Amino acid sequence: MTHFLVTGTAGFIGFHLARRLLADGHTVTGFDGMTPYYDVRLKAQRLALLEPHDGFRQVTGRLEDRAALDAAAALKEPDVILHLAAQAGVRYSLENPGAYVESNLVGSWNVLELARALQPKHLLLASTSSIYGANEKVPFAEADRADEPMTLYAASKKSMELMAHSYAHLYGVPTTAFRFFTVYGPWGRPDMAPIKFSDAILSGRPIDVYGEGGMSRDFTYIDDIVEAIVRLVDVVPREDGRVTAPGIIDTLSAGAPFRTVNIGGGQPVGLMTFIETIEKALGRPATRNYMPMQPGDVPRTFASTDLLTHLTGFVPRVSLEDGIAAFAAWYREWRAH
Ligand SMILES: NC(=O)c1ccc[n+]([C@@H]2O[C@H](COP(=O)([O-])OP(=O)(O)OC[C@H]3O[C@@H](n4cnc5c(N)ncnc54)[C@H](O)[C@@H]3O)[C@@H](O)[C@H]2O)c1
Repeated sequence: MTHFLVTGTAGFIGFHLARRLLADGHTVTGFDGMTPYYDVRLKAQRLALLEPHDGFRQVTGRLEDRAALDAAAALKEPDVILHLAAQAGVRYSLENPGAYVESNLVGSWNVLELARALQPKHLLLASTSSIYGANEKVPFAEADRADEPMTLYAASKKSMELMAHSYAHLYGVPTTAFRFFTVYGPWGRPDMAPIKFSDAILSGRPIDVYGEGGMSRDFTYIDDIVEAIVRLVDVVPREDGRVTAPGIIDTLSAGAPFRTVNIGGGQPVGLMTFIETIEKALGRPATRNYMPMQPGDVPRTFASTDLLTHLTGFVPRVSLEDGIAAFAAWYREWRAH
């Protein structure tokens, strides 16, 4: 049994991850600031599903508050820290850049300081496919250049990776940063396309189709993300642990026990196909309102999953059709309450 400190447990991915860890017989201290970026009632509902577990304790606090983080860690010293709390969202970073500096830079730095003090077996951090910017080479591989972020969200996540590398080098905590690609599923985020589109379709409102429908995204079902994370927990980066195999470029740093790994579906889907899949799952047509690309949007994302598969043996497996069907079933029921 392992004790985990998971930040972002009231959030979409952190909630699913904590639930899985508890189901696997581990114990979890959750930490979340319940920020009002989207409806906090949804966050409270997620937490209410975690709270009955004996092995779960939740601390409400902000990452920027080091004393609150210390208090969470003091409940029971974690063997592993999973840092998922963040100010997420690409578009909101144009409206409120300060939130990204506070949560993703200052907040993540506090998590690094905590890890430096506690020396857990493994520190794992949530980064994003957004750091690949408008790269044209696909699929996006971890070793590709990712130095041209298009938004402060992407810049803050890349900066977190860089800060974490320096701490891994200086203080030796083995660290993995995973780069998630557009995650969706039940209990998802209301600011993302599946809920935004479904809400509009079921309310009879038109949906805004940005980029004139020409964008594509590598959608990743939540269960695949969680499975990949759980497996990566056991793949602890060691400075002498570089993997070698034909065609695989390990991102293990030459100067630190630090690695970046993509977690994506590996099968990008055009926005129009995505909309058709939602229409089919909901059994209702959408009215499309075509719009230009929004500032900061990238035309495509597409994950290379070779390194993930090499390190963990896992290939993301849920098709968009199955994943959206599961999402739509949850959403219909959730919306009715
Ligand atoms: N969902 C995706 O498609 C996606 C893609 C790439 C990366 N990510 C990253 O994965 C992680 C989880 O994303 P998610 O989709 O679950 O987002 P989410 O917004 O649902 O969850 C994040 C949680 O962090 C909490 N939080 C935010 N700022 C905080 C702070 N300063 N102090 C304490 N708590 C704070 C929020 O209250 C929220 O519950 C984030 O780091 C995000 O950037 C998500």
